[in-house]
Amino acid sequence: MLAARKAFARSCPVSLTLVQTASRMSPVSTSSPQFATAPAKAISKFDTSSATEEELAAYGVAHITKGIGRSSTMVIERGEGVWLHSVGGRKVFDLTTGIGVTSTGHSHPTVVKAVQEQAARIPHAQVNLVLHKPMIDLISRMQEVMPHSSLDTFFFWNSGAEAVEAALKLARQATKKSNIIVFNGGYHGRTIGTMSLTTSKTVYRTGFGPLMPQVFVAPVPYAHHCSGNICNQPGADNSHCVNWALEQMELLLKMQSAPEDTGAMIIEPVLGEGGYVPMPAEFLQGLRKICDKNGILLVADEVQTGMGRTGKHWAVEHAPVTPDILIFAKGIASGYPLSGIASRRDLMDKQPAGSMGGTYGGNAVACAAALGTLDVFKAENLLGNVAVRSEQFFGSLRSNLPSILAKHDISVDIRGLGLMIGLEFSGPGTKKYKKGIAAEIASTALDKYDMLILTTSVYDTLRLIPPLNITEAETTEALRRLYASLEDVLAKA
Ligand SMILES: Cc1ncc(COP(=O)(O)O)c(C=O)c1O
Repeated sequence: MLAARKAFARSCPVSLTLVQTASRMSPVSTSSPQFATAPAKAISKFDTSSATEEELAAYGVAHITKGIGRSSTMVIERGEGVWLHSVGGRKVFDLTTGIGVTSTGHSHPTVVKAVQEQAARIPHAQVNLVLHKPMIDLISRMQEVMPHSSLDTFFFWNSGAEAVEAALKLARQATKKSNIIVFNGGYHGRTIGTMSLTTSKTVYRTGFGPLMPQVFVAPVPYAHHCSGNICNQPGADNSHCVNWALEQMELLLKMQSAPEDTGAMIIEPVLGEGGYVPMPAEFLQGLRKICDKNGILLVADEVQTGMGRTGKHWAVEHAPVTPDILIFAKGIASGYPLSGIASRRDLMDKQPAGSMGGTYGGNAVACAAALGTLDVFKAENLLGNVAVRSEQFFGSLRSNLPSILAKHDISVDIRGLGLMIGLEFSGPGTKKYKKGIAAEIASTALDKYDMLILTTSVYDTLRLIPPLNITEAETTEALRRLYASLEDVLAKA
């Protein structure tokens, strides 16, 4: 069964049930002789109503761009809390929340109700034409949870990358300075602009050049990879890495990107795709000082860290620092496409009318989903739940993982904030340590223990991203499946 599932996921043959209705399309008529001779193309007609999950998957795989990588070929029919249900009846524990999106779990009834009611009222009240009530309600509710009252003006878009683009546009418009500083291992999206800011993996940018110019990359304090082997010693703090990274920033401003050309620095307070690496408070505070000294805007990309994921509404609150622009998306609307930026009114007021907008930006149904999400935050005390479940996860991982792994000469860096948990595996190069253990655990978890879990970064890292309302019993269950997967992988080593 397991082998069959794996083989299926790997090969995904084009379904034999495709009905080729040949020659129903006439040859393309065009005056160009080059096209006039092109053969007629058959239309593939596929009856999804009677297809099995495997057939649906094969059809999807064949007709969706190969540019999308995916963890599995399950075809999902519905979700409920931490569970995903496939068309063929498979039930899978989702420890990914759709990459940090469904913060209230799949299909939370409060969010569903808010969406249904708004869809019946008006789904699309276009922002360049009119205002709509859900957006105004949302602004007033979001102001209550902003890290600082100065972040009182908003622009809404659909995806995280779009919101990062909005931040870029605002930074350049407001400062009239074009250079942007980003950080090594950062991920900001897949548009041409945002992939130019992304350095977590080359796959996100390879082959797409030329990218946006005037982007400069600064290092981050990453204690586990401390170049001086100081911060990664037992009991050491991370001050060496913090001081080094701040010095490198000062040098970058002297050697590559002059302050008078530099509009903004964009940072994730916890590197997401880059490996769930929390940025130390002293580093974020140091950047704030450098920005203030040099008239540079500090932009916090909280697309993944935002809305309670790290135990506070915004991860910058842990430092605390106040960014000039805060970017949000993902968990804000429990699965509906909503993103945006919050900034100071004096900056936003510099934007000429018409320079911002977008057909679906701040969609009314998505805003209603965000309002429903905020209702759940209050009603279920999600921040309180993140605190106790985070302790449960970290407590268990710290007391169990190192001893299980030590027998195999593998070490693990357990890190993160709140319910943004990273596990980076490494070994001293003994025969037993096989690079790729994180991916193996993830595939074993799915194939054998029906749990979806993600890897991340160029290192051997797993990331755990449960819903913020995960229960104690569900946390225990997630850990049980994780340990079982790990033991299986180690047993094979
Ligand atoms: C920190 C960060 N910024 C931006 C993005 C891009 O968001 P989206 O995939 O919605 O475009 C992501 C997505 O993972 C992210 O984690």
